Amino acid sequence: MHTILITVTRETNYFMDIAHKNKVYITRKIPEPGPSILKKYFQTNMNLGVDVLGREKLFENVRGVDALICMLGDKIDSEVMDAAGPNLKVISCYSVGHDHVDIYEATKRKIAVTNTPNVLANSTADLTFSLILTAARNIVNADRYVKYGNWKFGWTPDLFLGYDVYESTLGIIGLGEIGTLLAKRARGFDMEVIYYSKTRKHKIESELDITYVSLEELLQRSDFVSIHVSLNKDSFHMIDESKFKLMKKTAFIINTSRGKVINEQHLISALKDKVIAGAALDVYEIEPISKSNPLTQMSQTILLPHIGSATFGTRSKMAEVAANNIVNFFNRKGIVHKINKI
Ligand code: GLV
Ligand code: GLV
Repeated sequence: MHTILITVTRETNYFMDIAHKNKVYITRKIPEPGPSILKKYFQTNMNLGVDVLGREKLFENVRGVDALICMLGDKIDSEVMDAAGPNLKVISCYSVGHDHVDIYEATKRKIAVTNTPNVLANSTADLTFSLILTAARNIVNADRYVKYGNWKFGWTPDLFLGYDVYESTLGIIGLGEIGTLLAKRARGFDMEVIYYSKTRKHKIESELDITYVSLEELLQRSDFVSIHVSLNKDSFHMIDESKFKLMKKTAFIINTSRGKVINEQHLISALKDKVIAGAALDVYEIEPISKSNPLTQMSQTILLPHIGSATFGTRSKMAEVAANNIVNFFNRKGIVHKINKI
């Protein structure tokens, strides 16, 4: 009893303490309620500029902070942690992916790294499914054709013929949250869904009536191959020339995960040589993609500017989760979506 009382008192004092002194820096403008939640408890500073901060500016702005909210474009490495100094205890990613943070370095320094799972999975699955439909039915090229005034002959028997999505085969690489929600959407289109994942998910297989196959079989059988793995040393360039060769000539590759999972040079060759039919991408090896990248010159690509989670509702929920990860961490209660063990 005595011990419990002491613990409660200490935690309360600790929280009161952080309420007045602790500093949080947010590297890009995030929507409400993120900033308001943080302002209640911390001295909060947010970069209101439109651009990613340069390294020097980032070093300057993180000096002395206790917590940091960072974006995918920020490389959070030992230099940034050094610049922040010894007070830094939490790095809160405004994203589900965390490959832009040096987790090893953070863990070594006992800095918690957090992310925003759950809240963005449905939006990303929606965008992925829209890319499947858009690629299959030539929607982007057809839209341009009309807008550029090229539509001369009315209804035409062979104008923009594409591929059916219903009853086709979808191959999902990586059956996490987003992969699972994509499978659910695909079943609504009567697609046959096969998947490959590091670990087999028997429960989801029976719930959604989907089938586990090897990566090779998935590539050979799928009309649409969609990637939903996180980026790590195992998934880096997982899809390369040898994998494209296994795919059907009529198949499309869809990527809303991380660009570096695909060897982009090999993808460019596969598209040029018509090894596959097309690619619909939301992510690239280097973002933003350069205008001189051959992918931007091809009619068989659809390229989006990394907008998987970009809905008003989802970005707002992400801001709430990213802010609460910090508040709850210091408060030592409530949910903290921590991805490292400290
Ligand atoms: C987006 O790519 C994310 O990781 O949230
Ligand atoms: C299409 O509009 C059709 O009538 O075939």
